[in-house]
Amino acid sequence: MKRQIPIVAMFLLAACGADSSSGEPVTYTKDIQPLLAQNCVACHTEGGPGPFVAKSYEQAKSHAGAMADATMARRMPPDHADNSGACNTFHGSRWLEEEETALISRWIADGMLEGDSSIAETPARLLPELSGTIVSTGMSVDYTPDTGLTDDYRCFLVDSPGANVVTGYNVVPGNTKIVHHVIAYQVISMDAANQALMKDAETAEPGYPCLNTGGPGVDAVSIAGWAPGAGASVFPGDVGFEIDGDLPMILEIHYNVAGAPGESDRTNIEFQTSIDSFTQLESIELANFLFTAPPGLESFQTSEDFPVSVYAPQVTGRMKLLSVDPHMHLIGQSVRVEKVKANGDIECLFDMPAWDFNWQLSYWYENEVYLEPGDVIRMSCEYDTSDRTINTGWGDGTEDEMCLVYLNGILVP
Ligand code: HEC
Repeated sequence: MKRQIPIVAMFLLAACGADSSSGEPVTYTKDIQPLLAQNCVACHTEGGPGPFVAKSYEQAKSHAGAMADATMARRMPPDHADNSGACNTFHGSRWLEEEETALISRWIADGMLEGDSSIAETPARLLPELSGTIVSTGMSVDYTPDTGLTDDYRCFLVDSPGANVVTGYNVVPGNTKIVHHVIAYQVISMDAANQALMKDAETAEPGYPCLNTGGPGVDAVSIAGWAPGAGASVFPGDVGFEIDGDLPMILEIHYNVAGAPGESDRTNIEFQTSIDSFTQLESIELANFLFTAPPGLESFQTSEDFPVSVYAPQVTGRMKLLSVDPHMHLIGQSVRVEKVKANGDIECLFDMPAWDFNWQLSYWYENEVYLEPGDVIRMSCEYDTSDRTINTGWGDGTEDEMCLVYLNGILVP
């Protein structure tokens, strides 16, 4: 957080920079309502994960100062991958254009006018939904997070929804006031399933704690992820992957206990399935295990090269990239992935200038992006170690760090 310009200073800068005398004043109906409907209302609605509703002129007025700060600092909306076009664009992105980040503060400076009430309201942007055949699984009993913790990371063993080809998924949190994020895993063997069962048996409450175990703490692959406001993930075309009907799944749930202490949750996950032929979703794991970040630095950068021929030997023709899942821990600041072509040209694949541990989303490409066997993928991660007293390196605990990106896509000729 060290590099952020103090909020008040930013606010003043933006407010002074708004030259409303030369143009039309910013008004609610013309400018603010569309901005909120497109980028905020999916979460800032009744019963949504956002802490207030932002659907009317009065509501916008009463939260204007906080909304101006949050958008200028790019804390909100919480989609943090650059979607300006400088490094690809992503489906459903809520990344604000540079001038949009200052719009709410300009509205304040212009007097928070309501404007022309005959302008039709922009409908709220809806979240993606599953369609067709849907199977589901989930927690079989309610869990009440430990009120002695602020963040309770709990893993729950759940039945497989049956052998299926999955073409999309949707996490259905039981209690949005406390469910902060969810990652679904499928264990890779009965051994791993038994290990998870043993962990589960160690406490009387359902599930087992998994804060510092780097996922579920048993051999398992992550197959789905969710953060508030994400909606369903629907794969394009006939892209899918198979799930095993015999091996259980594990739901890793991060509960934000302060959201509603004492309340309970029972979360489910739905899978959209297909019985037709499908194109296998492939993943390339890029993991930089080798860095050591010394303490006391506002910016420590590490970069590693991953030749496609070594890390993705299955790519013999081309791989069409479909999505990116970045992962770092608490002191991650930024992550960038580039493609270095055989002729030395560099192309940006993914750029997240401000990493936020609380908002781990998947980003689905809108434009076409390919990898070839001769390419080298360059991944760079940045950390702020100013609050650390010892070296920080790769590890599972949240006090350790990761520099990890999954590139997902399909093989094409
Ligand atoms: C994907 C869901 C989501 C979207 C979209 C979203 N918010 Fe939020 N917002 C939240 C949640 C959850 C919190 C409370 C936790 C937090 O602060 O991260 C929050 C907190 C806030 C806060 C108070 C905390 C702070 O950081 O200042 C403000 C102000 C805010 N949002 C404004 C906005 C505005 C303005 C937009 C649209 C431009 C927006 N949000 C879009 C989910 C969302």
